[in-house]
Amino acid sequence: MVRIKVVSFDPQRATGEEWARFHAYRRKRHVETDPNDPLRADATVEAQQRKPDIAWKELNFPVIDIDGSDEWIGWQTLEFARSDGPSYAENKRILWVWISLLPSYRRQGIGRRLLREAANFARERGKSRVVSYAEEASGLAFWKVVGAQDAQRDRQSRLNLDEVDWTMVEQWAAEGPARSPDSKLVWFTNRIDDEDIEEWCAAFTEVWNMMPRDDLDIGDEVFTPERRRQSEAGIAEGGGTTLTALTREEDGTISGLTEMGYFPEEDWMINQWMTGVRRPYRGRGLGKWLKAAMLLWVREEFPQVRVVRTDNAFSNAPMLSINERLGFKLYREGMEVQIGLEDLEAYLAKVPESEATLFETEDGLAGI
Ligand SMILES: CC(C)(COP(=O)(O)OP(=O)(O)OC[C@H]1O[C@@H](n2cnc3c(N)ncnc32)[C@H](O)[C@@H]1OP(=O)(O)O)[C@@H](O)C(=O)NCCC(=O)NCCS
Repeated sequence: MVRIKVVSFDPQRATGEEWARFHAYRRKRHVETDPNDPLRADATVEAQQRKPDIAWKELNFPVIDIDGSDEWIGWQTLEFARSDGPSYAENKRILWVWISLLPSYRRQGIGRRLLREAANFARERGKSRVVSYAEEASGLAFWKVVGAQDAQRDRQSRLNLDEVDWTMVEQWAAEGPARSPDSKLVWFTNRIDDEDIEEWCAAFTEVWNMMPRDDLDIGDEVFTPERRRQSEAGIAEGGGTTLTALTREEDGTISGLTEMGYFPEEDWMINQWMTGVRRPYRGRGLGKWLKAAMLLWVREEFPQVRVVRTDNAFSNAPMLSINERLGFKLYREGMEVQIGLEDLEAYLAKVPESEATLFETEDGLAGI
């Protein structure tokens, strides 16, 4: 019989010992999920964790085996829009729930026990919808049994730079300004300039919310200069680099944008983040121009990079069409899932609590 207890982990106040446990758990999960990928450095992750998103609040609950060592054997994060943050109005009913356990602790009712606490939390805080994401077989099976709906199918794609048709990429980069002679390509590294940040946030918010959500019943996001500055600082303080390219129209409007993130310890891999073209400016090849120019820049600035990774919804046809022509290949699939709180409570009421889990909290869930 496994007896577990849940504690809390606050990156703002974590001690060196807590960080050591955090990284030990992170390493074990990385070996399980991405054994062939580089692991982001401890200092990089800590710097980002210490600069939390000003729109969303995360509460973290490491799980400990009472009869084992102090090592963490599991983890739960509950994430919800901050009531004083910019995305609250559209997302106040949403609770994101992330649960993971080390393999030897699975199938003993611990995941369900944690989910029960998440449901109680949702009820107390007035959240009516629980949302999550899974790509491992165990996680997908778990949410299916719980009765969560498959809301959006996602894919991670990867581009091997050794296989890229650079002649085509150069052609796309040349066609962009030829088709849009009044548009300018502008670059930023790590920080959007002060005079551009307001317009940047408006453009980023617009293209972000244009991404398909399929059946995922979550609200719009709002990106403010304060939110952007916080995320820029978290990445830069951890030694990462954010590369931004945007197209600006003659009247100053930002028409399209693309971003990549590089972390030195990831060495041969770079992350393609958001790409978007505002609706009135679509169909002019701006998306192809931005992505091609960015790839040429990466080839120049980071010659050690061999692989670009990116995440999209399967339903995002315009983005996938560009990516596929560049040579991105499907690497992994995942599923965004959701369940209404009442349906989740009905499931939990049906299943008896496992005798194998004695649930204790220190300053964890019960202490919130
Ligand atoms: C998802 C996860 C947290 C579930 O935790 P768990 O403690 O193993 O789950 P439980 O034992 O409480 O399982 C509850 C029910 O879900 C179903 N289930 C869980 N894992 C399953 C699996 N691998 N295959 C089939 N059904 C499974 C079962 O019906 C189970 O009840 P039963 O054992 O009485 O039949 C765990 O498998 C895990 O850490 N996976 C990797 C991380 C992940 O994918 N997380 C999901 C994203 S939030």
